[in-house]
Amino acid sequence: MDELLKAYGRSTSYPFHMPGHKRKAITAMNPYEIDITEIDGFDNLHHATGVIAKLQQDWADLYGCKRAFLLVNGTTCGNEAAIFAGTREGDTVIVGRGCHKSVYHAMALRHLNPEYIQPNVRDDGIPEPVTTAQVQEAIKEHPRATAVILTSPTYEGLCADIEGIAGAAHAAGMRFIVDAAHGAHFGLHPGYPKNPVSQGADAVIVSLHKTLPTFTQTACLLLPENSGIMSERIQKYLGYFESSSPSYILMASAAAAHRYIKAHGKEAMEEHLHRLGTLREHGTNLKHLSVAIPSPWEAGTTADPSKVIIAGKDQLLSGESIMTALREEAQLELEMATPTYALAMTSFMDTEEGYERLENALFLLDEKADAWSNSIPIAKVRQLYEVRREIGMPLSEATEATTAKCPLKQAAGHMAGGFISLYPPGIPVYAPGERLEAAGVEALEEAIDAGFAVDGVDDHKNIEIIIEA
Ligand SMILES: Cc1ncc(COP(=O)(O)O)c(C=O)c1O
Repeated sequence: MDELLKAYGRSTSYPFHMPGHKRKAITAMNPYEIDITEIDGFDNLHHATGVIAKLQQDWADLYGCKRAFLLVNGTTCGNEAAIFAGTREGDTVIVGRGCHKSVYHAMALRHLNPEYIQPNVRDDGIPEPVTTAQVQEAIKEHPRATAVILTSPTYEGLCADIEGIAGAAHAAGMRFIVDAAHGAHFGLHPGYPKNPVSQGADAVIVSLHKTLPTFTQTACLLLPENSGIMSERIQKYLGYFESSSPSYILMASAAAAHRYIKAHGKEAMEEHLHRLGTLREHGTNLKHLSVAIPSPWEAGTTADPSKVIIAGKDQLLSGESIMTALREEAQLELEMATPTYALAMTSFMDTEEGYERLENALFLLDEKADAWSNSIPIAKVRQLYEVRREIGMPLSEATEATTAKCPLKQAAGHMAGGFISLYPPGIPVYAPGERLEAAGVEALEEAIDAGFAVDGVDDHKNIEIIIEA
């Protein structure tokens, strides 16, 4: 494995994917030399008073917020701690259906009663962020909910109206937790969207490793000055969900990244935005491919310019085909692909050479359009999101229920025993405890036959269902 990784690191493959350091060292660091445990003088992440407390304050200052809890188990543990800190056992919460599995896991463990908001799906198959109107409606329907939990930005970089939603949530006495895993660079330059921690959210979790030059698993949980969630409760639940042997290698990489951003960030981010602007402009000359990059300066508050969405115009080339062609013909590795689009993740650590290779490869692919024969079944993506669900059993009970395999085609009327999701982006079609209906089963079967990757359905088209007494 280590040899494989080293060989890959030396290969000509270019990473348009996480982590944000893009395999470029920002400091000389020998992991063996700095891998320690909590020895005298090196503080304790779970009770920071020294060098780690200072590092956390540095990150809080960078984001302009009150507290930053450095995380070494990703946004995953930050989401879990924020949800436990921001709710009580059995609470009702309003939650975006597109949230990460860590949110579902926390809701199950906390015995929460989730009231979901289903994202709208755009014509190009991209799920939109939850809207303020949807949240207002949900608040009206569930006035006793205690928290609103949303993802913003989405995987594709689309941002919710955080200020509007925070206003609605707070007016109803609810806390507002934002999973901003993909927005660690937000708020660090005016060309990127604002950070939700400055827009009224009570707790915001950012994966440093996704878009900044830090090692995988580093993240921050941010609290604003007037958060409705007590920092003591966050600290307590981080003790439940985060390793009791936090890696100093990971913390050191967060320290190096902070220093790098202070010293070179402005220049690097401006270059990043400039390169994206050039790619965006040149991309308009493509005939059969579209390269969607929001304009950093105009649309900066509603979408992240660093997420480059590449799709075939006229639905003639699938995202998977684009991703494969870029890998095989130009050794460019993208972050992900769905049937309708592919996603290249950029960061301010990308090189000029990387952009040149991407642009050249896109134009070469564009010239081969005559050979494209796919027909992208966007309607099938829609069908999957529009499936109706009846809750047969609360999520927390369903995750503990006894399950058995059942052929998908015979699953109508049964309750899902696990998550069944279109992956990527991973939005559950059915969550545990939700009863499948015939139209949903049909939509899943059609999607699988059309080549969609559906998590939770095995190679023999079986799913887990709950055994009912
Ligand atoms: C929206 C969202 N939230 C949370 C996570 C988990 O983040 P991490 O890998 O930092 O634990 C992911 C991971 O991809 C994600 O996409």
